[in-house]
Amino acid sequence: MNRPCKLRCEYMENPQSVDTRNPRLSWVADSDRRNDAQTAYQILVANRTDDLEKTTADVWDSSKVTSAQSLHVEYQGGELLSKQTYFWRVRTWDSQGNPTEYSEPAQWRMGLLCLEEWKASWIHCPEIGAGGDLNPAQFLRKVFHLDRPVERAVLFITARGLYRCWINGTRVGSAEITPDWSDYGKRIFYDSHDVSGLLRDGENALGIILGDGWYAGHVGFHGEKRHYGDIPEVLAQLTLVSPAGSETIVVTDEHWKCSTGPILYSDFLQGEYYDARLEMPGWSTVDFDDARWAPAVSRGMHKGVRLAGRCAPAVEKIEEIKPISATRRNGEELILDFGQNISGWVKLRIQAQSGTSVQLRHGEILNTDGSLYTENLRTARATDTYVCSGRGVETWEPHFTYHGFRYVSVCVSGQPDLLETTAVVVHSALPQTGFFSCSNDLVNKLWLNILWSQKDNYFSVPTDCPQRDERLGWTADAQVFARTACFNMDAAAFLSLWLINLRDAQSAEGAFPDVAPRVAVKTDGAPGWGDAGVILPWILFQYYGDTRVLEESYESMTRWMDYIGSSNPDHVRRNKLNKSMGDWVSYNSLTPPEVLATAYWACDADIMAGIAGILGKTEDSHLYKELSNRVKAAFNRAFVREDSTIHGDTQTCYALALSMDILPEEKRSEAAGHLVRGIELRGGHLSTGFVGTAHLLQALSQNGYAEVAYRLLANTTVPSWGYMIRKGATTIWERWDSLDEEGHVFDPQHPTFIHPEFGPIAGMNSFNHFAFGSVGEWIYRTLGGISPSEKGPGFAHVCVHPVPGGDIRRAETRYESVHGTVHVAWKTEGEILEIEVRIPCGVHATVRVPADRQDVVLESNVPVQQNGDLRAVQWGAGFCEVEIGSGEYHFRRESCCDNVKEVSAAGDSQSVGR
Ligand code: BGC
Repeated sequence: MNRPCKLRCEYMENPQSVDTRNPRLSWVADSDRRNDAQTAYQILVANRTDDLEKTTADVWDSSKVTSAQSLHVEYQGGELLSKQTYFWRVRTWDSQGNPTEYSEPAQWRMGLLCLEEWKASWIHCPEIGAGGDLNPAQFLRKVFHLDRPVERAVLFITARGLYRCWINGTRVGSAEITPDWSDYGKRIFYDSHDVSGLLRDGENALGIILGDGWYAGHVGFHGEKRHYGDIPEVLAQLTLVSPAGSETIVVTDEHWKCSTGPILYSDFLQGEYYDARLEMPGWSTVDFDDARWAPAVSRGMHKGVRLAGRCAPAVEKIEEIKPISATRRNGEELILDFGQNISGWVKLRIQAQSGTSVQLRHGEILNTDGSLYTENLRTARATDTYVCSGRGVETWEPHFTYHGFRYVSVCVSGQPDLLETTAVVVHSALPQTGFFSCSNDLVNKLWLNILWSQKDNYFSVPTDCPQRDERLGWTADAQVFARTACFNMDAAAFLSLWLINLRDAQSAEGAFPDVAPRVAVKTDGAPGWGDAGVILPWILFQYYGDTRVLEESYESMTRWMDYIGSSNPDHVRRNKLNKSMGDWVSYNSLTPPEVLATAYWACDADIMAGIAGILGKTEDSHLYKELSNRVKAAFNRAFVREDSTIHGDTQTCYALALSMDILPEEKRSEAAGHLVRGIELRGGHLSTGFVGTAHLLQALSQNGYAEVAYRLLANTTVPSWGYMIRKGATTIWERWDSLDEEGHVFDPQHPTFIHPEFGPIAGMNSFNHFAFGSVGEWIYRTLGGISPSEKGPGFAHVCVHPVPGGDIRRAETRYESVHGTVHVAWKTEGEILEIEVRIPCGVHATVRVPADRQDVVLESNVPVQQNGDLRAVQWGAGFCEVEIGSGEYHFRRESCCDNVKEVSAAGDSQSVGR
């Protein structure tokens, strides 16, 4: 066994602002041997990294603990101190009792644990926010003297708005858009940075720029802005620790100086206006003369607002993309194509005369005449303007804005000597964990487009879209996509942080909101939307083995369940549907709201029974199970007819009822038949919206219709994923028919989906909504063959059940789970099916190989029933199920009879809450 690797604290690599008092430590046990597993571990925690070299540590030595646990081991040493950095490492013992070497050291730092420790005041510039449409960015600075050596310096900082910080002219941290979005009246996330290396003896300067962000800028529709306040403010506290351990602090207060500068405005939706002639060179260094700057206005501390350390990936620059084409239009305008719909901005390199201005307009598609299409941005101007200083070659990127775009229109007021543009991709920096490729290029492109829509919309919170005047944390979108999201990326910390926002936004009555943070949209409790409050924590449990998120959410979930229950005594969810949005953006198909709502209620009740059981609340678990039975019975009574048709008869009705396990056994196959009939009636097409789509393919393949699912996946006519790709999509569209065959945006005169409030509006047409990308889950699970399993949450147990189909002859899928790398590659040639599987140390897997005869399934050339490395072999109707431990395995099925394919697709591993 190799030394453990991938050390994480609270899901993060070396987190800087931990404010839970018993953080959870995780690692990956590593071994190349078959059936190897961790049998024990020892964790050492010390105040200094040198102390870790000793055999015992001064803060915590867990001693040897006999346990296979490598995930979420709670720190159990003495009390952890505010601001302190802790270093840790771990070693493990293998299945033969041999210890590994200790891991490389890792660390975490505690945040400021009590509000009283904040001595700083919220400050801002005077005369900002007095009127006008958009605020100029504020520049704030402070010079301070160090007369003693400093061993360690930590900066704690946050804003009501967005901040960027410099010390002695050097930028602090890598976050571009920070702090993360929250309900600023309740909770504000702060960052902390070790800035020891940036300070020097004598004079030092701290400089901060403040922008409007979600706090004071435009968020949501119709030009609405200033949702939380008019004037952004910053709160910063620099703690300086001497070698002897004594502390001094530098804080934001009325002694800071401030000014406006070259950023005349910088707004998420409207863009940035930057006049480089107004730059103040050296403004964040000691030597700058700030005599004309005004004293800052100090607001003290805001009462009742919780300051919480951010323990999630920040919004960062991820990569840069060069244009793939530049086309001149009407002499003046240049249209750049970056080849990919992204979230971010354009970086300029320019040399031109002082006063030359460059205007950058952003859009997702072009009109058929080659001009930039911006109608779908609605009131978002999405325009950046840069005015040159004329001082040689100038490089510029905007500060507090971002755009969703593939194309940029560039207009320059004069003749520049040099003009270079680069697109900068910016989003929350989640590590990618899912990798997929197969023999079908359309499916590969679909997978990639899904990944891009996640990148572009995982922007501090899961947003609906990155381009128009909306960009809100719609709860259904997040919920339907979360399983795909957790395959694609390590989304645990990101979604956990958003769940804090979701809980903060719960109504006094118990309704979870329709958007979180709750802003611009004040409604709550819509079926499929509010249910996110129950479904998401459960997904985090399934994918990451997280029980703490279940504990933290439990009370809010029970309030949600009571909210629904108290209004619907007959167990049909007809009441409190509030602004019910049904199966959003379905295609000429309307699912009755009460059918959708009741199905979700049953699903919630099942999940609650599961969660209560895991948390040891046995009585609650029984009650929720009983509730689930009642709701399912009521659903069947109210909506399911003798012939197993469901009221509404839409594909979504069947997909939900089947995948949420609502129908009695004897009705399942007939109902699945109706689902297939509905698809056939539409010429082999789907008609589902956001809600139904997430369940459609799973419902088909779980009921013996994997080939129908493959057909939907392969379609290239509207409505289908393939259609979007055929029309040039590089992300997932909001509507199945966002563009027509001729490339025109959909025709509002002939809508396939009508907005219940605003009618068939043309402006609701984003080319970057991840919701229909929920099919990614099916790609990983059924095509790829990797699913989480109830037998071991957090991929401690994996179901490997690829279901080959369609014209696909080979697929390769890798998932970097919290327990290590799971890899499944399969290929077919005639009747021969080969499946290569790699399972990480300590993890078990159930591999299902479609086969009808014992002697035709081999592992590493040995018939499975004679293979001593396999833990168990079982035979079902048309398949062989093999239990394996860690290691690499090579299965081969030599031949099969005709019906094996269909049979193997039936009974695809199911789990609660699907
Ligand atoms: C958003 C959706 C959202 C829906 C619900 C739309 O405007 O873009 O993604 O779920 O509204 O009303």
